[in-house]
Amino acid sequence: MAGNRTFTMIKPDAVSAGHTGAITKMIEEAGFRIVAMKKVKLTSELAGQFYAIHKERPFYGELCAYMSSGAIVPMILEKDNAVEDFRKLIGATDPKKAAPGTIRALFAKSIDANAIHGSDSDENAALEGNFFFSQFERF
Ligand code: RTP
Ligand code: MG
Repeated sequence: MAGNRTFTMIKPDAVSAGHTGAITKMIEEAGFRIVAMKKVKLTSELAGQFYAIHKERPFYGELCAYMSSGAIVPMILEKDNAVEDFRKLIGATDPKKAAPGTIRALFAKSIDANAIHGSDSDENAALEGNFFFSQFERF
């Protein structure tokens, strides 16, 4: 059965461009409840730990440098079928291929600076949420 929580981060390009409010509004209007939320800046070492799953991919170094280049806004979100529905709301990794009206189609600048992250499975959603939030930061 699909789980009811996912994890997201608004990425440095979207935070620095002032899109945090607009993106959070779209998330809530799509029916997701915000369980946890904060603004943080990763070190490149912490970004490397978060994206360890991509260590062998050619874009790993750039990804870690980019994700530690500015503030991000991580959140845990709740909704039925959360992982799949959230990936539909954000659109394809490459904003040129993202469906019209999706968060990446509206706000992403490039495949690297693509505005937002969405977990790809219930298992990763739990791991990623635990990476950023303690039990006292979830409501
Ligand atoms: P995310 O994890 O950020 O939600 O993105 P995703 O599932 O759509 O894409 P994923 O394959 O998990 O890749 C993680 C991030 O790495 C960058 N990327 N660059 N140059 C490339 O070919 C490439 N492919 C992926 C993107 O910023 C992507 O969000
Ligand atoms: Mg991914």
